[in-house]
Amino acid sequence: MSETAEEYGPFPPSPEFSQQAVGQKSLYEEADADREAFWAKQARERLTWAKDFDKVLDWSEAPVAKWFVGGELNVAYNCADRHVEAGNGDRVALHFVGEPGDERDITYAELTELVQKAAGALKAAGVEKGDRVALYLPMIPEAIISMLACARLGAVHSVVFGGFSSDALRTRIADGEAKVVITADGGYRRGKPSALKPAVDEAISGETTVQKVLVVKRTGEETEMTDKDVWWDDALEAAEPAVDFDTFDSEHPLFILYTSGTTGKPKGIFHTTGGYLTQAAYTNAVVHDVHPGEDVYWCTADVGWVTGHSYIVYGPLANGVTQVLYEGTPDSPHQGRWWEIVQNKKVSIFYTAPTAIRTCMKWGKEIPAEYDLSSVRVLGSVGEPINPEAWMWFRDNIGGGSAPIVDTWWQTETGAIMMSALPGVTSLVPGSAQAPVPGITADVVDEEGKSVGNGETGYLVIRDPWPSMLRGIWGDLQRYKDTYWSRFEDMYFAGDGAKRDEDGNIWVLGRVDDVMNVSGHRLSTSEIESALVSHDAVAEAAVVGAADETTGQAVCAFVILREEARDQAADDDKREELVQAMRSHVGKQIGAIAKPKTILVVDELPKTRSGKIMRRLLKDVAEGREAGDATTLADPSVMEKIQAGLKK
Ligand code: WTA
Repeated sequence: MSETAEEYGPFPPSPEFSQQAVGQKSLYEEADADREAFWAKQARERLTWAKDFDKVLDWSEAPVAKWFVGGELNVAYNCADRHVEAGNGDRVALHFVGEPGDERDITYAELTELVQKAAGALKAAGVEKGDRVALYLPMIPEAIISMLACARLGAVHSVVFGGFSSDALRTRIADGEAKVVITADGGYRRGKPSALKPAVDEAISGETTVQKVLVVKRTGEETEMTDKDVWWDDALEAAEPAVDFDTFDSEHPLFILYTSGTTGKPKGIFHTTGGYLTQAAYTNAVVHDVHPGEDVYWCTADVGWVTGHSYIVYGPLANGVTQVLYEGTPDSPHQGRWWEIVQNKKVSIFYTAPTAIRTCMKWGKEIPAEYDLSSVRVLGSVGEPINPEAWMWFRDNIGGGSAPIVDTWWQTETGAIMMSALPGVTSLVPGSAQAPVPGITADVVDEEGKSVGNGETGYLVIRDPWPSMLRGIWGDLQRYKDTYWSRFEDMYFAGDGAKRDEDGNIWVLGRVDDVMNVSGHRLSTSEIESALVSHDAVAEAAVVGAADETTGQAVCAFVILREEARDQAADDDKREELVQAMRSHVGKQIGAIAKPKTILVVDELPKTRSGKIMRRLLKDVAEGREAGDATTLADPSVMEKIQAGLKK
């Protein structure tokens, strides 16, 4: 974090903002007085339960929590039907904007009907309560409709980001044993149709658990259909709409979402129903300050990530919010696309990632200045630490110099926002996630698990169970315990380092494990290393996340070539060719987001006597510093050799 950080702010909320804010100071007092009663109230006030719960929290099987025990509800009903019943059927749920410029408004009444039809189609495809359904879709309304259709039936969705490769899709389908896949012919990306369906064909070729594939027609490109495939429109038309629905136990699984961990195998983080929906709805209300029926909200994430799950689908729709759903990239067809949408749709709450803000900074403030952004009143940031310079730029150029910015810290595992300012209460300190939201107990602790004092650095932990916490790793309870609950006794270890400043504000400093954060996307060093060593030319690989001005971190790989490839690498052009081939190989194994920005061919890697690669030293090289202390290396001269080799 830059030294200038504390030069900015703090910025107290304006009295006008505070007065109208959903999240008031009293929330902290209520939560402090009785945390469980506080959450029970949120659950009952924000959701509609078919059967009330009789116990708030059961922690007897820690670290697996049960929240709102005995309660029953239907998530799709909570996110769609009940808003129609309340008389808000004509309210727009989604202002969809396609990348080519096509637009489609979907009201809550229409959303409800579409979800009922899609649930009917899934039922007809054989989907029952508890079955897994994999979704591999672009950012189109059908992605949201599919998720809610699964929830309506009590089926468990596993959304796989459309940027992942067919290999990555295959392992996720296999791990969750998905019965049905929902995909599209393709989506639009940077002005061109980009196919998705062929990747599904590849991912389910050979032995598979998948029995049916529903295919949404988005691009209309020529698409080969097999006997497992059904066009979405045909399936919806043919099926009996699932107007009636069952209600499910508060702890019934809602979804699995894969994320990178410290090992090569992605973790299937799984979330359940009542607690997840409660915290997603509550945080969306008090942190983003949504006033349903008045605000137009826009979260720019992809539904393939947790941010899209909680803050495009479940939180906002449970709250009955009107939102923008945009298919494409911020610079297609021009660099003002986002701001044009904000202007046209009168977006009042805008939630995005620091990497996007920094990219817009690079393009220049003249671009947003061309648009009328006066509707904007709240800004949010998520995914990585936001540097104070980007924070100030965001506020000045998008937020009219006064909109509060909520910097929200959370994870796939936490399910919903854990730390953030409340925009009507907190004096904002740019760059700091500040404090846990009411109801959450976060802390910064030292190696022994003792709270650090102000001005000190340590590890970020959560002390008490929270409603939207993960209930485990799909099919691997032990890994769940080992990963999150073994580092400190009785505390959840998030994997992030953090600092408490002199005023007690918490600053998240980034991962302390082998997880990288590239453009707010989580990537595992070892997953990319395994992808690299599976390339014919590579003998060994080490990957580090190197600081990058725009993307936060960038993937930097060091590879040792196999004997056969060494001659080829001696020639500059051929080496470049080889490097490109390795990059594409990683793209094929994992997805384009995982392709290393740089690949450096080296003769040796720095290893300790026990054979562990010292990534810290490689990070020094990748970030252009002299390598730090190398005395614990088996061969301390390795670093000199690497640096000399690179200077050549
Ligand atoms: C990082 C995304 C600093 C952090 C919601 C965390 C952040 C990881 C912030 C989770 C923030 C997320 N400030 N760092 N406001 N938000 N992170 O699972 O390292 O994709 O552990 O969830 O992103 O990434 P994930």
